[in-house]
Amino acid sequence: MTEPILETTLVTPAQIRESLQSLGVHPGQILIVHSSMKRIGWVIGGARTVVDALLSILGPTGTLVMPAQSGDNSEPSFWVAPPVPSDWWPQIRELTPAFDPQVTPLRRMGAIAECFWHYPGVQRSNHPLDSFIAHGPAATGIVSSQPLEAGLGEQSPTQKLYDLDARVLLLGVDYDNCTVMHLAEFLSRSRITVRQGSAILENGQRVWREYQDLALDSDEFIQPGRLLDATGQVRRGQVGLADCRLFRVRDAVDETVSWLKANRHHRILPEEKPALLETLKKKPIENLFAIGDLENFPLEADFLDVLALYQPDSAQRLDSLVVRYHQNLIVACPEKTCLMEPLRSVSDHPSIQFISGRTDVLKQLMPHRPEFDFRSMSLLSIEKSNFRPFEPTPAMAAQLATYQEPEVASLADIPALADLFASITEFSHSTDREERIRELTTAMESGSCHYAIQRDQGQIIASAGTTAENSTSAMIVGVCTALQHRGRGIASRLVSSLCNQLIGQRFQSLALFYDNPDAGRIYRRLGFTDTGDWMMASRKNQTVLQTLERN
Ligand SMILES: CC(C)(COP(=O)(O)OP(=O)(O)OC[C@H]1O[C@@H](n2cnc3c(N)ncnc32)[C@H](O)[C@@H]1OP(=O)(O)O)[C@@H](O)C(=O)NCCC(=O)NCCS
Repeated sequence: MTEPILETTLVTPAQIRESLQSLGVHPGQILIVHSSMKRIGWVIGGARTVVDALLSILGPTGTLVMPAQSGDNSEPSFWVAPPVPSDWWPQIRELTPAFDPQVTPLRRMGAIAECFWHYPGVQRSNHPLDSFIAHGPAATGIVSSQPLEAGLGEQSPTQKLYDLDARVLLLGVDYDNCTVMHLAEFLSRSRITVRQGSAILENGQRVWREYQDLALDSDEFIQPGRLLDATGQVRRGQVGLADCRLFRVRDAVDETVSWLKANRHHRILPEEKPALLETLKKKPIENLFAIGDLENFPLEADFLDVLALYQPDSAQRLDSLVVRYHQNLIVACPEKTCLMEPLRSVSDHPSIQFISGRTDVLKQLMPHRPEFDFRSMSLLSIEKSNFRPFEPTPAMAAQLATYQEPEVASLADIPALADLFASITEFSHSTDREERIRELTTAMESGSCHYAIQRDQGQIIASAGTTAENSTSAMIVGVCTALQHRGRGIASRLVSSLCNQLIGQRFQSLALFYDNPDAGRIYRRLGFTDTGDWMMASRKNQTVLQTLERN
């Protein structure tokens, strides 16, 4: 059976040349092209005709550049198009071949980039994920170096294209395909940091290498792109049926930087810290985590990002502050409401596993984050004046006497502590063991957390700890008792001894949040009282998500 006759437009090589020229492509330009072949129509000679037209118009003094990304050589837990089962991730990290600029395929760059890559004289930069291909006199300068970290940021080919005043041609695609605009995400400091990974060759050996990158989001380029359209700096036209735009890299990057600075959070600079701390300390319990992180860790720590958004009408008044601590996001919002679109944006990365903050704020975020489970928690606090130390009944005291005295956990206890947490079913929605070890180590090494532990025959069977210790307060976390030792006053004794050691001496107050009524009774007996509503969102695991999608 024959297929139906094509219904599209026939486009000749001469028409391609003429429309590119009338759009403004001319000899000697440095031009980066993003393209969709299928939008043009039926081109005689296909992708090759387009590449030939571009090269011949640019001539021997012009340089043609295209992105050559290999998105499948990246951290698999970040994949969304499509996501893959989590039990594949270790094998993907272990077995993906090392990036090789000669052979690693381009992914989703389109037929034109695919064709251009095979032209003689085309050079490819050596980045496992975000490489570029280029041909012409400026090619070597553009692709000869590309840092592994921040591969689309400063010192990368995007920066070189900016410095060389190159042009961008969007051929049948929109601004969300415009790679150079990623440079704006670095310059505006507007994204959280993520731990990217790729297979590379190191000293002749294939290794899976982790490196810092930003949570880049090209979907957001449409909005600054429309503003750029309105400035008159963009030449518009058609190549075949494809809508096209030609503009300067600098104009696009500058417009995107301004848009991101006005509409998104930015990673704060050290000089912003004192004023922000002053604002946060007006509500020391509600903002306890944020205050603790700001006081305890340097802003450049790789496990931390502190991002602020000021109110649109006043550069001094904070709209919201978002702290990324490892895989957790803490939202602090000094007013009753805050802008939701920036919060949606900053929380939109698969590396984020937990989001917490005031209930009224997180409830507004809930519709935007269906991949998270939101749980309401009670936020309680205690001061010295209302602390009522644990007094066991005689029967309970006799039972407690069969255990050793509680101890303070040291760094060496962290793996056993993480094992205890992993065994507590009520904690099954929380951080996995390895991540927990990383977080506890960071906190204990910085001196911002302390754990009281109960051993039984050498094994840790219960714990109560602090985190985010700061100049006025600390959060009690990790309160748990192994199932077979419950109901004997062990948790009550641990929390009571923490309070006894800490409040009135190191801290004015202590806080905690809970949703387990068994725990709530212990805290309230000791004198903790309601201080607000807290919400905690944890990423649904893949099985839950798949079940939801099927229903
Ligand atoms: C919540 C949890 C930590 C309690 O641990 P535990 O060691 O069994 O707690 P305790 O034995 O100290 O307290 C429980 C019992 O002691 C008794 N008790 C405690 N203080 C008492 C007092 N002053 N007088 C008389 N009885 C007292 C009570 O019978 C109490 O039970 P009740 O509250 O149901 O009446 C434990 O169930 C657990 O690990 N749960 C899962 C993790 C979790 O949810 N942690 C809380 C996170 S916020």
